Amino acid sequence: MKKAHVIYQQDGRRWVAIARDPDKRACVIDTNEYLISDGDEALLADPGGSEVFPAVFAALSEVIDPLRIRRLFASHQDPDVISSLGLWLDCNPQLKCYVSWLWSDFIPHFGGSDQSLIALPDQGMDLPLGRRPLRAMPAHYLHSPGNFHLYDPTASILFSGDVGAALLPADQNELFVADFDRHIRHAEAFHRRWMGSAEAKRDWCQRAAALPLDMLCPQHGAIYRGADVMRFINWFDALPVGAIGR
Ligand SMILES: [Fe+2]
Ligand SMILES: [Fe+2]
Repeated sequence: MKKAHVIYQQDGRRWVAIARDPDKRACVIDTNEYLISDGDEALLADPGGSEVFPAVFAALSEVIDPLRIRRLFASHQDPDVISSLGLWLDCNPQLKCYVSWLWSDFIPHFGGSDQSLIALPDQGMDLPLGRRPLRAMPAHYLHSPGNFHLYDPTASILFSGDVGAALLPADQNELFVADFDRHIRHAEAFHRRWMGSAEAKRDWCQRAAALPLDMLCPQHGAIYRGADVMRFINWFDALPVGAIGR
């Protein structure tokens, strides 16, 4: 069963991880979903696949009425990220989903129409949420050609989609990275294969290193916090990517 974990809260604003699910079917990749709420407004980042929609909805209900969520954010187009879109729209037909303009006419295959989407331009943009906006930060080619991360300067948290993802064994289910060296072994093969552009990786590492960052929250595996954030950025910067079998 998925559970809601408040990972930070400050001044009426709250950041919640719907963390991994030990009871999910073995054939689907495990995912994290992230809720950011501020007063009456709430946004769900990388809401997950239709497969996990009931578990995500139930876990969200521990901390919020899910029908209050009026905005989704999809870092990219993958089924584990946003194939639940049609089910969310069944709950709330007024709901809107931010996604790269590149995917605007692909995503409606998961439900809704272009009216359900807010297309993000390549350079990114601010997303209003309560009193302080979030920032859609370009992360193109990491791994999708139209890819964004979500930065909240209020808490110095970066929701990094598949960047930072680790495919952890079942007995390693901590919410935060506990031992970086032990953890990162489970991220290496994933990043080598899924991250296709060394140039995009270098550019992202430079921009991420320049941000104040207290947490880096990936869509798979544990959350990096404190010194482990910069450890991850340095590790990723040095990792060869974009080749099969190396
Ligand atoms: Fe992906
Ligand atoms: Fe993913």
